[in-house]
Formats: sequence, C-alpha cells, structure tokens
Amino acid sequence: MEDSPLQVLTLPTAPYPDQRPGTSGLRKKVFVFQTKRNYLHNFIQSIFSSIDLRVRQGSTMVLGGDGRYFNTAAIQVIVQMAAANGVGRLVIGQNGLMSTPAVSCVIRKSKAIGGILLTASHNPGGPDGDFGIKFNIANGGPAPEAVTEKIFQISRTIEEFAICPELRVDLNTVGKQTFDLENKFKPFTVEIVDSVESYANMLRNIFDFAALKELLSGENHIQIRLDAMNGVVGPYVKKILCEELGSPANSAINCVPQEDFGGQHPDPNLTYASDLVESMKNGQYDFGAAFDGDGDRNMILGKHGFFVSPSDSVAVIAANIFCIPYFQHMGVRGFARSMPTSAALDNVARATKIQLYETPTGWKFFGNLMDAGHLSLCGEESFGTGSDHIREKDGLWAVLAWLSILATNKKSVEEVMVEHWKTYGRNYYTRYDYEEVDIDAAVEMMLELEMIISDKAFVGQMFTVGERTFQVERADNFEYSDPVDGSISRNQGLRIMFKDGSRIIFRLSGTGSSGATIRLYIDSYENDVNKILQDPQVKLSELVTIALKLSQLHERTGRNSPTVIT
Ligand code: G1P
Ligand code: ZN
Repeated sequence: MEDSPLQVLTLPTAPYPDQRPGTSGLRKKVFVFQTKRNYLHNFIQSIFSSIDLRVRQGSTMVLGGDGRYFNTAAIQVIVQMAAANGVGRLVIGQNGLMSTPAVSCVIRKSKAIGGILLTASHNPGGPDGDFGIKFNIANGGPAPEAVTEKIFQISRTIEEFAICPELRVDLNTVGKQTFDLENKFKPFTVEIVDSVESYANMLRNIFDFAALKELLSGENHIQIRLDAMNGVVGPYVKKILCEELGSPANSAINCVPQEDFGGQHPDPNLTYASDLVESMKNGQYDFGAAFDGDGDRNMILGKHGFFVSPSDSVAVIAANIFCIPYFQHMGVRGFARSMPTSAALDNVARATKIQLYETPTGWKFFGNLMDAGHLSLCGEESFGTGSDHIREKDGLWAVLAWLSILATNKKSVEEVMVEHWKTYGRNYYTRYDYEEVDIDAAVEMMLELEMIISDKAFVGQMFTVGERTFQVERADNFEYSDPVDGSISRNQGLRIMFKDGSRIIFRLSGTGSSGATIRLYIDSYENDVNKILQDPQVKLSELVTIALKLSQLHERTGRNSPTVIT
C-alpha cells in the first residue's frame, strides 16, 4: 500500500508560567495536562527545543512511563511531536510501560541522546491524581539543573510547536514501525520493545543469579514477599524473581500495573505499604520489599516486619559490597548520599577509606560523579538506592543486592543489620513529612528559621530537653558545588549540626503538586553497643522537640502532627 507522507505542522501556542521542573521533573494534577490547552505540547516542545538541532536530527530517544492514567494519551502526542522535531528513532516500552531504571538502562544500551519518562513516581495516579514528565540525558540519568532550567526558560516564551497529527503508533506489538514524513529524507522509526528483557539481562550481568536462585528456590530456601504496589515494576518482579529465580508466583503481589495504582499511594514506606508490613508480622516471610509506581524506590523488611531504614540500607550494601559480582569486577570508586540521608554511609566510607560525597536531594546530582568515575554506590533516605550500573535509583537492584548479602552471609535481615550497628555504630534516623500545608506558611517558616540559624549567636547555643543538652556546632542553608563541573546549587535545605554529630534538617519538597510539603529530618549517632537497639522515635524525641520549637512548625502550619513519619 502506497501511503502519502505524513504532514508535519507547526502550530501556534501560548506559554504557561508554571512549567519549571522540580526535584524530579514536571508534576501536576492530571486535569492540568488534560484541560489546559497545549499544556503537554508546550512542555514537550520545550524539551525538544532545548536539544541542539544537530544532536536531535536523526537521533534515537527512549520513551516510557509508569502506566498511570494519561500515559498512553501522552505517548501518542509525544511520538507525533518527536517525529516532527527531527528525532529519527523512538524506542518505546510495550504498551507504553517502562520502569524508570529500565528507561535509564535502555537509553544507555540504545545509544540514545536521552529519554522522556512519563511518571509522577510515588504520587497517586488516576483522573484525580498526578501526572509527570521527566527528561533524561544521554547518560541515562535525570537532566541536570542547567538543562531543566533551559527547558523552563523555553517554556516561558514558547510560541509554536511542531507535530505530525496523523501519525499513530501501535504500542501493543513488539517490533519496528516506520513512517514517511513530508520533507524528510529518511523514514521515522518507532521500535516497541519488551523492556523487561533488556533490564533483566543487565541484572544477570551484575548479580550471581545461580546463588540467588539457590537462596529463593534451593533446598534451604527463604520465603519472600514482594509488593509491586500496582505500579510498573510488577512484570519485572514476576519475570526476574518468580520465573527466573524461582520464587513462588504468590510471593509477588499487586503485580499488574494499574492506571490508578488500585487507588493506593504507590510509595514504599511504613504508612503507604502497610499491607506488606502487616503480612510480614506473623513471621511467615523472611524478607519483604515494596516498590513505588515507577520502580525506582524500594523498602526492605526482614522477618516479622523488621524495618531497614533506607539510610541504613545503603550503608549495609556498602559494607557488604563485594557480595555483588559487579563490584568485584569493577572495583569501588566512591560512595554518595544526599545531604538529609543519615551519616550511616559515612561511617562505612571512613572505615573502608573510600571517598564519600554529600549531594543535594535528588538523583540527578549523582550522575556527574558516576560519569567521571568517582562514584559506585549511592542512596537517599527517601527509599532510593542504586549504583553506577545505570543513572537512576533502582528498586529491584536494591532487592537483589540485599538478597546477595543474605545469600553470602547466611544470616537474617535483622542479624545483618544488628551486626552492622555493632561494627559501625547506629545512626538513629527519622523523617517527618507535613504534606499539603499552606505554601505561604511553609515559605515563611523557612525564612524565619533561616534568619534564626544565620544569627552569629546561634552557633554555640545550648538546647536542653529533659536530661539531654545539645550544643550547636554549625548551621547553614546547604549549598553544593559539583566537583565535576563546578556548578553550584543553593538553597538545598536548612541544617543545624550539633557537637555530638546530631543533625536537624528542614527542607521544602520539590515533588508535590499541590500546597507545600515540609520535611523534617533528624539524624543522631550512637556507638555504645548497649544503646543500639532502641526505638528511634524515643531516642530522637528530644531533637524533635527542639526542631519543632525552633521552627514553630505546628503553630505556623496549624498542624499538630506529621502526615507521615518514617
Ligand atoms: C523526594 C525525595 C528525594 C527524591 C525525590 C524523587 O523529593 O525527598 O530524595 O530524590 O523525591 O524520588 P522531594 O519531594 O523531597 O523534593
Ligand atoms: Zn519513583
């Protein structure tokens, strides 16, 4: 059949003032994308326009999403716009699905110039939920601030966008589709791929699958329970953990991706993954894990629901890093954590004489260090763990890392953790989230607090609660200077550091879509082996009291307790 070439149009549009990407892409309520004229088109055009035409022309890009509501509608538009903007080949996950770590993997494997990820991560989905768009660069990682800022500047003055309105792709069938466009010498190609396969292949080269198979289905196998939270990672869990490593089919739950995540909040923490926590309590399972909507976050639990805090998780992986064959081959270049993440990783770095980097919140800051060969393993307190095998955090990778540690040490999760604390001391840690508070109240609270802690007299000040006294050693608004490209990121969170190493940190979230979210982080080190098994909430109560008093958080926001405590 001889089809006539598809039309390429340039259509007029008007800019929006609010398309600045946050910690991890642009996130808005679904209705914003659906009802504001060209809201999606404007942002997508801004992404394409931010890429030099010579780089874009004929290039390969990757496209995939976490399957949330509006995913496929957005993909059709993005394909039409990619073609019109000169992209030569698009690699898309079957049915429009691809986990965030898989996108990072596929960008790297297909030598793409970047990728577009349709996800609002752990934010709820569905018609009343959130939608999000993230741009990743050629290294497979989130675009750095210079790029997101350029995208934002373009979006503020955009006047037109390019599109092939008649182009339609079939997202369901794996294989190649080609389209002839008017004014184009070469056809535009779309490749629909089974992203689970290339991702699984990558993991096979990182871990010892034979040892993991023995752990999960050998003679003395352990019992695990994995909750995909109705997010995109379900098919990956099924294929890798169940089919390949032999864990029984019923050990993985909520594995069919749903547009609204089954009405749940797809965030793997003790509050939103409480079903998993409950099902672990009776001791039937030795190991449990949950993931978020796009599969980059993870929560690790032991028997009876023993909770491994994410800050400890990355420290344990660091201390046992050679249980993972990838690091035996590649060596270990450095460790990194985001600033609010507890200093548990620092203790391992010190003991092993491996360089530690402290970066601002958000995975994008790790990419430069990895590309420059300075960083092998990193993590964030927000349930993010990963390594330089890709440039995103990777939930399934973290689970296989933990299983590798269990397989090598032949110990339970709790035993591994307690032994770690005995060796390195314990960083007691908690995070309080106050979600959807009034923006003005939140901003004002941060400004006032910054004034208080910037006062010269603040350093040296003593705070006494009950029997404990803490003396301020240093306080600032965290600023990061990237050791690779020298770029500076300011205003990354207020830090109050005490003489005993304890820290209080305040930050405003950059991922919410309505109101403001205030995060309060507390980190306090204990190396007395007789005091490493206490309840963090009790242990940290004095520091919480000091933080709330100093900030007047409750008075200013009208809240009397946090939305989520981790
Ligand atoms: C949150 C987390 C941060 C993480 C990001 C994306 O950002 O705190 O560590 O990288 O989500 O998953 P925030 O809402 O705090 O800006
Ligand atoms: Zn995520």
